[in-house]
Amino acid sequence: TSTGIRVAAEGDIPEGEALAVPAGVTGHTDAIAVFNDEGTYYALDDTCSHGQASLAEGWVEGGEVECPLHSARFCLRTGKPQCMPATDAVRSHRVEVRDGEIFVHPG
Ligand code: FES
Repeated sequence: TSTGIRVAAEGDIPEGEALAVPAGVTGHTDAIAVFNDEGTYYALDDTCSHGQASLAEGWVEGGEVECPLHSARFCLRTGKPQCMPATDAVRSHRVEVRDGEIFVHPG
């Protein structure tokens, strides 16, 4: 929708952490991981492009998330892989913060 899907309140995701929002909530084909990197929020498809790992369980730092399984890193803004073993991007989604609430626009 044009207003986006509310996934959390700002305080729900501490800095350096992420929340996995199930596909059933957003209507998207994959769970969406919403990251808080030093107060800026990003959203990517939750499943790593290299294997069955949840990026929401990865390490968030410096505009990137590191996959918890084999340590590929993805740009939080674009979803592009920054190092091996991942070679494919994960989809990125627009995030909006309104009145302390976080909205994702699955795209
Ligand atoms: Fe993510 Fe292998 S599953 S790097």
